[in-house]
Amino acid sequence: MIREARVYADARLLARAVTEETLRIMLQAVVERGSCNVCLSGGTTPKSLNELWTEEYAARFPWKQIQFFFGDERYVPADDARSNFRMARETLLTRVPIPPENVHPMPTDFERPADAAAAYESEMRKVLGERPEFDIVFLGVGPEGHTASLFPDSPALAEKKRWVVAVEVPAETPQRLTLTLPVLNSARNVFFLAEGSKKREIVAAIRRDHEGDTSVYPAARVISAGHVIWYLDQAAAW
Ligand code: 6PG
Repeated sequence: MIREARVYADARLLARAVTEETLRIMLQAVVERGSCNVCLSGGTTPKSLNELWTEEYAARFPWKQIQFFFGDERYVPADDARSNFRMARETLLTRVPIPPENVHPMPTDFERPADAAAAYESEMRKVLGERPEFDIVFLGVGPEGHTASLFPDSPALAEKKRWVVAVEVPAETPQRLTLTLPVLNSARNVFFLAEGSKKREIVAAIRRDHEGDTSVYPAARVISAGHVIWYLDQAAAW
């Protein structure tokens, strides 16, 4: 089910709308709580968003008050071309004045991925406290409805306590770390970004699906207590 979708003529207009709403939420969070906690998505969709942030909004975002976390990571070295952190570093984090201590990549250098997951949860708790309430969680959606690295039929979908788990997924770099649904569903705002005709089928399927937290599509199980908005370009919309 998609409770709220915002559709834009093209990816450029989509990126601008997401950026303006992001900026509004960030500034409000800083006023209300002195900081803003953001969870970045992996994949390729965020690249155009990051480009807009660095090229046109670099002077407007409150970078020093923003803490950046990641929704999932492929269990590869941080300089591997498939790393979500490397993509974020190259397209955003090294191009705007974010204090290094505000950037929290998922560790991929533990021998056991499960230990890396536990270490990341500890780091999250240091910043977020006892409730993982991100101000904004950015998410993508895969062709079979995965989001972050929560894939259909994964045991991780049933995780109710841990904030981060190690998973094996049926996709590139099968070993991954991912935030769990309790974290994604604690967010004040969740922004799904889907653009291009390849996303049309899965977006329509999720829109038709009324199962909510038991859906076959992990992305449909993100029914946060907060505001969940699907940002689509026309090519991905129904
Ligand atoms: C990942 C992502 C994943 C991604 C979707 C969409 O590590 O791959 O976290 O959930 O958001 O697969 O990817 P695209 O943006 O490349 O379509």
